[in-house]
Amino acid sequence: MRTHVADHPLIAHKLTALRDERTSSPEFRRLADELVTLLAYEATRHIRVEPITVRTPVALAEGVAIANPKPLVVPILRAGLGMLEGMMRLLPNAEVGFLGMVRDEHSLLASTYAERIPKDIAGRQVYMLDPMLATGGTLVTAIRMMLDRGATDVTAICLLAAPEGLQRVDDEFDGAANVTIVTAGLDERLNEHGYIVPGLGDAGDRLYGTV
Ligand code: URA
Repeated sequence: MRTHVADHPLIAHKLTALRDERTSSPEFRRLADELVTLLAYEATRHIRVEPITVRTPVALAEGVAIANPKPLVVPILRAGLGMLEGMMRLLPNAEVGFLGMVRDEHSLLASTYAERIPKDIAGRQVYMLDPMLATGGTLVTAIRMMLDRGATDVTAICLLAAPEGLQRVDDEFDGAANVTIVTAGLDERLNEHGYIVPGLGDAGDRLYGTV
């Protein structure tokens, strides 16, 4: 597994504003959207392209286009939905699948309640959107589903990650699979409720105004 923690002052600035408990839901959504676009730039560093030739007003130019089969973008509901627009801004022709997962507040175990993902994604590059990599349970289940369906590589974009979650994903996919985590920040730890510390609270609640 590869981990990339963004190291850019603009990303750090927006992440700090996102964390601030005084940030309103509309502002939180806007910042999350912008952060994802910035992270997507890094996350797509190894996106497959194929050579093409275009005619400029002056001459022929050799270039590239995103290769087929198209990448698949999968937001993990609910909070991952708040990251979709920011991702699609950079990959407007990607296919979108949906995965609904919920974490039990007591056991912290993740279960799937909705799924619209093609059964066969052989040879596809998958970009998963999940704002908070906390215990890692949700992401491990989601990444396993993509690899079982034939994805060649899976990149998860997370706004924040906890060391415990990164470790769990690394233990699960150590070496064998092509799994990458791209995050705007690596925080200190999880608390006894499975929240990232210092984190930003419940990402879904903050996105959708339920606080
Ligand atoms: N999910 C969240 O929304 N926040 C956390 O800190 C952990 C999981």
